[in-house]
Amino acid sequence: MPAVVDRISPVPVLAAGGICDARGVRAAVALGACGVWVGTRFLVAEQAGTHPRYRERLRAATAEDAVHTGVFRDGWPDAPHRALRNTTLTRWEDAGRPGPGARPGEGEVVAEHASFGPVRRYADLVPVVGHVGDVEGMAMYAGQGVGLIGTTAEPAASIVHELSRGCAG
Ligand SMILES: Cc1cc2nc3c(=O)[nH]c(=O)nc-3n(C[C@H](O)[C@H](O)[C@H](O)COP(=O)(O)O)c2cc1C
Repeated sequence: MPAVVDRISPVPVLAAGGICDARGVRAAVALGACGVWVGTRFLVAEQAGTHPRYRERLRAATAEDAVHTGVFRDGWPDAPHRALRNTTLTRWEDAGRPGPGARPGEGEVVAEHASFGPVRRYADLVPVVGHVGDVEGMAMYAGQGVGLIGTTAEPAASIVHELSRGCAG
């Protein structure tokens, strides 16, 4: 972070990845970031449309459960990501991480949504409210800060308020 800040100053730099609480914000600011970009923490905000089972998995997860992988590539190829371990990921790894055309269960419909339609295995779609079926077989994206997100549902405003304490003093 300091190297990037020095290199591109005065362009403002946002820190991203694994920041889930005020401590992370404070650390990012100390390293020269002018702000942060937070994803995973907001997946459990009251206003997020994340599926209840996805929320449960997020709350139970530790950093090690957020696997760096390329498995959910259908819709967005060649974009490495982190996602919670599930049956789709484990079966694909056990098969030797094959490419399209040779993946286990490829083409199967794992879940459906009345508005958004069927979800096939390996799609880059996350489970949202209304998905039915094997929602845990879908892409449950999560960053390495997932172990810090806590166990109670909070409004997004509370999360922003807490994170902003990392900017004070
Ligand atoms: C549900 C979800 C969807 C995401 N979608 C994208 C995306 O479409 N493009 C992208 O570059 N990153 C995407 N990301 C990764 C975020 O950019 C990443 O979460 C961000 O760097 C913040 O890291 P954090 O989740 O550890 O806070 C997504 C992350 C999550 C949790």
